[in-house]
Amino acid sequence: MIVLDEKNRVFTLHTCATTYQMKADSHQVLLHTYYGPRVGNGDLSYLIRHADRGFSPNPSEAGRDRTYSLDTLPQEYATCGVGDFRIPSLEVEPADGSLLSDLRYRGVRRVPGKYALPGLPAFFGGDRWETLIVTLEDAASRVEVELLYGVLEDRDLITRAARITNRGDQTVYLHRADSLCLDFCQGEMDFITFDGCHVMERCMNRTRLRAGIQSVGSVRGTSSHHHNPFVILCQREAGEDYGTCYGAALLYSGNFAISAERTQMENNRLTMGLHPYHFRYALAPGESFTTPEAAMVCSIQGFGQMSRQFHRAIRENLIRAPRAGERRPVLVNHWEATEFHFDADKLVEIAGAAAALGTELFVLDDGWFGKRDSDYSGLGDWQVNQQKLPGGLGALAERIQALGMQFGLWVEPEMVSEDSDLYRAHPDWALGVPGRSRTLGRSQLVLDFSRREVREHIYRDLQKVLDSAEITYIKWDMNRSLTDVWSAALPPERQGEVFHRYVLGLYEMLEWLHRDYPEILIEGCSGGGGRFDAGMLYYTPQIWCSDNTDAIDRLRIQYGTSFCYPVGTMGAHVSAVPNAQTGRIVPMETRGVVAMCGTFGYEMDLRKCTGTERKIAARQIRTYKARWRLIQEGDYYRLTDPFGDGPYTAWQHVSEDRREALVSVVMGAVHAAQPFLALRLKGLDPQRSYRINGSRERYPGDALMNAGYPLPMPMGDYQSLQLYLEAK
Ligand code: DGJ
Repeated sequence: MIVLDEKNRVFTLHTCATTYQMKADSHQVLLHTYYGPRVGNGDLSYLIRHADRGFSPNPSEAGRDRTYSLDTLPQEYATCGVGDFRIPSLEVEPADGSLLSDLRYRGVRRVPGKYALPGLPAFFGGDRWETLIVTLEDAASRVEVELLYGVLEDRDLITRAARITNRGDQTVYLHRADSLCLDFCQGEMDFITFDGCHVMERCMNRTRLRAGIQSVGSVRGTSSHHHNPFVILCQREAGEDYGTCYGAALLYSGNFAISAERTQMENNRLTMGLHPYHFRYALAPGESFTTPEAAMVCSIQGFGQMSRQFHRAIRENLIRAPRAGERRPVLVNHWEATEFHFDADKLVEIAGAAAALGTELFVLDDGWFGKRDSDYSGLGDWQVNQQKLPGGLGALAERIQALGMQFGLWVEPEMVSEDSDLYRAHPDWALGVPGRSRTLGRSQLVLDFSRREVREHIYRDLQKVLDSAEITYIKWDMNRSLTDVWSAALPPERQGEVFHRYVLGLYEMLEWLHRDYPEILIEGCSGGGGRFDAGMLYYTPQIWCSDNTDAIDRLRIQYGTSFCYPVGTMGAHVSAVPNAQTGRIVPMETRGVVAMCGTFGYEMDLRKCTGTERKIAARQIRTYKARWRLIQEGDYYRLTDPFGDGPYTAWQHVSEDRREALVSVVMGAVHAAQPFLALRLKGLDPQRSYRINGSRERYPGDALMNAGYPLPMPMGDYQSLQLYLEAK
């Protein structure tokens, strides 16, 4: 609900459990007054302290009032160069070369329905929600900023974006245009980020906000393995089940910057948006620029509740999956089993062994096209390699379908190998600066997806491939960071647009796929989880979570990922042991328990398994098929922290009506004489009692949550168990 008090110019947004408020003050400055647990509509600007701080300047309208300074007031979208020395939201360079933005309030309006952002991912929800649009202006440059707020009331989620329009008569250049600025007047806070590297993504880091700026971001052209465009600011005492916390996600898959600043007033500012590195965007008179969307959730019941809010909204109002509400197929992918060394017969044998156990989709990974026998060549030549696959994809797909399976295909459309026909024909289609050598990554170059003719050419090739066989799934991969970012299609003064235009080009191509092949399920991938963000999830309802398939490392990767993203978005597969990344040997049962907390599949040659392992795999697939709705659509509870030094990692899925739950536990390395352990469950109905794994006994929900359930003593490393709870 949006409440506009136009007389006092107080604008209040209510979700079910939270309130967000701003006020245009007497100097037309848009102040942020509150974001937190739900309160009434009253003007909360009394919370704002005015103080004369030395060296905090005063706008001329303040006259002799030295307590009025943009430097100390909480801002809704921060100015630049006119007195607020904290992180600005907008930096604009008009024709005179200055870099100021003095934004003042011009008007407000409420629009039915949640806004959409053409060409960019955004939460959707039909007409049941509302949008608030607040207009600001920098009078001197005549740059207008419309702040868009989507109020997803029953999701307890608020979205933000900004549309910047040049109302003047000369071109201006944007140097910075953030999606979110959130000022907190309350005291100390912790900053939580999700960081890592290739094969160890989204590890949780929690740090106390200290004076100055702490930030994460990416200048790699993708959201990256290294930092994720999702962060949490929270009270210092906040934890999984208690305390106030604010989660913020940027729906963007390229360069981003997120900063938390602790100021001289001991206040905190959170900012989020495109990374300013190499960003300079020309706006001719009348042109507009729209920032990516940011989404915010505030929870007073800790991180668990915050995550569940994000999960529901992402599942129901962001992801566009074919046959939504249906189970996604259990897949088998041959990559870890064969890499590039396969032919049609070998693939069909691998698929056959997997089909016999109940898998439903075979994914043909890298190596099926062009001269692609290693990762040194072939990218860009999207014609099937007839030596490996005589008869083409159609013939292979038919053999796979004869096994009762669907057929899926890996592609990496954004890339080109130097050793490829495409590169020989169009060397300028790869990003690169004339006169400089180009930097390789995995021995490949990046196609200039900011150029329409490049996208169209690749798309036409992809269409030929997709039309040549019955393909129900695509794995869209992307295996390097962007370097040498320069486009032959843009003049020098517009090269600062290429990073962003690249992402827009990628989104456009993915949108074409949605339009032309609505039945195809797309899995995102970037060397595993190098582009695991809410922007990609709008186009690719699941993303390969990590190239690290070691079940014990995956506990941490999937745990970190779960803070924002629902488990149904995480591609997770059982792979062979010793694991290719770690050499670790983890029992088959445990590999299944971990992979089941995602979109489940196998990444191995099941022909090579023992009879017992095959039986275990068949059982896992049956369990997943029986429990998938509970896992993917139930409420997710983290029961322990795999980064702590506890003896086990556990999590739980609970159905909305709380009649069913699935608890998964993975033990660590075993020690003799272990203490007795009881695991306290969450989210159950305290009034009901539950059977566990079909037991005769019933266990009261309140006891299971407060006293716990005894865990068996492990005999051997990394054992696991699943408890299925069913209420009468
Ligand atoms: C990186 C992906 O993450 C892998 O799963 C696999 O598809 C390879 N690329 C293929 O080159």
